[in-house]
Amino acid sequence: MPALEQKPGELAQLSRFVAEACCIHLGEEKGYLFEARLGSIIAQSGAVDIPDFIRLAKTDPTNRLRDRIIDAMTTHETYWFRDERPWASLRNQLLPTLAAMLRQGTRARVRILCAACSTGQEPYSLAMLIDTLCLEGKLPGVRPEQFEIVGTDVSAGTLMLATNGRYNQIEIVRGLGEVWRQRYFTANGPIWTIAEPIRKRVTFKRHNLQDDLKPFGQFDLLFCRNVAIYFEAEFKSRLFQRLGAALHPGGRLLLGGSESLLSHQDLFATEVIGEAVFYQRKP
Ligand SMILES: C[S@@+](CC[C@H](N)C(=O)[O-])C[C@H]1O[C@@H](n2cnc3c(N)ncnc32)[C@H](O)[C@@H]1O
Repeated sequence: MPALEQKPGELAQLSRFVAEACCIHLGEEKGYLFEARLGSIIAQSGAVDIPDFIRLAKTDPTNRLRDRIIDAMTTHETYWFRDERPWASLRNQLLPTLAAMLRQGTRARVRILCAACSTGQEPYSLAMLIDTLCLEGKLPGVRPEQFEIVGTDVSAGTLMLATNGRYNQIEIVRGLGEVWRQRYFTANGPIWTIAEPIRKRVTFKRHNLQDDLKPFGQFDLLFCRNVAIYFEAEFKSRLFQRLGAALHPGGRLLLGGSESLLSHQDLFATEVIGEAVFYQRKP
């Protein structure tokens, strides 16, 4: 079948299927995106038309075709220490506050979730920062292992890359200075592998943000950055409620630089820490 040769309404069916699979709503006017991202997958699938392609994806018992569609339709842009301001707040205020909870015995472990973490740069940045702060004596009486970091994403291919912790020349330099690279990576030709103790400090799990977060337990800090921009208002509202429920009272939510909660004042209080905005779960 020539890629995306459609009859009327077929693009809408494809759009609905993608929205159901990963909550990404792309209207029919974004036909070019379906073409660019799914064209070759459709061509290779052996489907005779779009409804046949959707049927194949829905009935494939291995879910491989569905996973390929999700991988292709989601945007995985990420880099190390993305956006300077929240990282300065973490370094100077928030991580020392969380470390104090460990020292005082309020917590045996601090739990941090990086939802929609893509290829792992965000949770690994956090693990490296915590490690460095401990080495520099900035979190006295606390060990890096007392911070549990979980990274989740809907995309299986992306999570596999994150778990492997290997990055190419382009990925490694984006946001990461020489000192970090030398301290936490080994280079083998053009591939940079993250140090094993840092890799082991992050657990990666598959999770679709349309599903409950309860199985993961509650967290003290939750990153959910640069993904809500792809969701519709109603879904976003339900998502923020789920994120609130996944936080301990007093726990904080961090969104992307261009995202905000707007409503949900019942659940969260807006808090400026340093120069970054966090949302604190109300008691
Ligand atoms: C642009 S990246 C953001 C990565 C990282 N949080 C950052 O800010 O650098 C968006 C990620 O969200 C993931 N994603 C999209 N829809 C999702 C969903 N419904 N559930 C979980 N993850 C999703 C994508 O697979 C992608 O890896």
